[in-house]
Amino acid sequence: MRPHEIAQMFSEVAHRYDRANHILSLNRDRAWRRELVRHAAPQPGERLLDLCTGTGDVVIEFARACPDIQIVGLDLSEEMLRIARDKFTQLGLNQRVQLVHGNALELPFAESSFEIATIAFGLRNLPDRAQGLREIYRVLSQGGRVFILEFSVPRSFLVRLAYLPYLRYIVPWVGGMLTGARAPYQYLRDSILSFPDRAQILEELYEAGFRPVGYRDLTLGIATLYWGGKAIC
Ligand SMILES: C[S@@+](CC[C@H](N)C(=O)[O-])C[C@H]1O[C@@H](n2cnc3c(N)ncnc32)[C@H](O)[C@@H]1O
Repeated sequence: MRPHEIAQMFSEVAHRYDRANHILSLNRDRAWRRELVRHAAPQPGERLLDLCTGTGDVVIEFARACPDIQIVGLDLSEEMLRIARDKFTQLGLNQRVQLVHGNALELPFAESSFEIATIAFGLRNLPDRAQGLREIYRVLSQGGRVFILEFSVPRSFLVRLAYLPYLRYIVPWVGGMLTGARAPYQYLRDSILSFPDRAQILEELYEAGFRPVGYRDLTLGIATLYWGGKAIC
């Protein structure tokens, strides 16, 4: 799928996206985003770019935890951004956060514009991951770091035994019922199952220039947090 087709798919479910997320993940998505913020540990004055920001939940977690950072959220779906903007207004965050409509594969920012970049459940959606990672590397300053949160296939046979039927059959069915659109949740299932394993993602981060790179599994390996640094030359 092309980036605009993917964004269009998210626009269709935008109004029910958050609720479906929380129900399908049994609320683990909130804990995973908090873990992302804890690992990123921004310092006062740092500039943070949240890619594929969607309805803004990662931005909200950062804004709550770190009052002294500058935050930019970027997404290709106008509808997802509209919901993010409404949430920021309710939470009084509009002055602190800038939202940008744009494509993660062609970032509208100069080199070295940010100290931290994050992308939660977005890398899976980029048709050209290598280009996405190169763009992140380009806009990070020296010493900057990237944090990627993404779904994974658990490594434990026993966990897979329970999780894979849930992912294959329950997720598209319940997601369809909650949002009125089944196709995005079939896409969710297929894109999780075809996402490369952890070693391959580390390899791709390394290829893009990041050193060191690492990862940590969350909730029995259903999600994984990856990170990479842009070395000081
Ligand atoms: C699964 S949602 C994740 C939203 C949010 N990060 C979260 O934690 O819930 C993926 C988001 O990526 C956006 N997206 C997909 N392809 C994109 C691209 N090429 N550039 C920017 N955003 C993109 C979609 O519009 C959607 O809002």
